[in-house]
Amino acid sequence: MEKQIKKVVEILAKAKNVVALTGAGMSTESGIPDFRSPGGLWTKIDPGEFSIDRFLQNPSRFWRLNLRLKQSGEFDLASAKPNPAHLALAQMERLNILKCLITQNIDNLHQRAGSVEVVEFHGNFLRAVCLKCKALEPIDDVEERIMSGQEETPRCLKCGGVLKPDAIFFGEAIPSRALMISQIQSQKCDVLLVIGTSLQVFPAAQIPIAVKIKAPPATVIEINREPSALHEQVSDMLLIGSASEIMTKIINRLEGELS
Ligand code: APR
Repeated sequence: MEKQIKKVVEILAKAKNVVALTGAGMSTESGIPDFRSPGGLWTKIDPGEFSIDRFLQNPSRFWRLNLRLKQSGEFDLASAKPNPAHLALAQMERLNILKCLITQNIDNLHQRAGSVEVVEFHGNFLRAVCLKCKALEPIDDVEERIMSGQEETPRCLKCGGVLKPDAIFFGEAIPSRALMISQIQSQKCDVLLVIGTSLQVFPAAQIPIAVKIKAPPATVIEINREPSALHEQVSDMLLIGSASEIMTKIINRLEGELS
């Protein structure tokens, strides 16, 4: 691993345009389960619960499930804290090495770690959006209204429309701005860091493919507990282990190189 870390640092120090693509494996060390590992969220609940069709059929059923997952601690985003992997990526941005961070995660931990150029590819679960007028509200306020029994199905304070977490549910389109910025950044990048994602969900998984087929192809460095579904196809380097441990070693060496 040390040899790999040294090589990664050399590549990052020379790179002109580093982009990161992150997944749920970034946040497991913050206490948020990922989706497909043993014990992941989809091993406990049906992913269909997070489909837009099922939400629209019965919004209050989803909001009750959301509260149950939060109160049981099974999926409690609000109390999670950024871990060293999040902090390392924020530092990489401050060192002007990381130009853009595209995340599939909806937990807001990259932003709380200090990352600024963050593309929320799957939205953000800490906000609620009105399906009618698109107004946004902090999800804590909405959950407060549900827990105090004020309303079964949370309604928009502005227009009375149905509120939904501002995360992209299965069957929903990726936000057009996120898609556009990701495409532009993928075309510009010369190194793509792929951290903590199984690369099983499209169109996010299209990003490493896109950076490999462009000319000249970018270097793809994968950091994961296990090889992702596309590692044979896209990864030039695969560092197996904890995102926190590996990213901390990388940022420490990078700072040493640049000082
Ligand atoms: N360090 C490194 N890798 C980790 C760690 C860790 N601490 N913890 C888990 N991983 C790895 C797992 O081995 C797995 O390969 O992260 C990956 C997480 O994969 P998934 O659970 O499939 O999560 P993700 O790839 O982000 O899922 C993509 O699917 O369900 C949808 O919208 C949801 O954004 C999500 C998308």
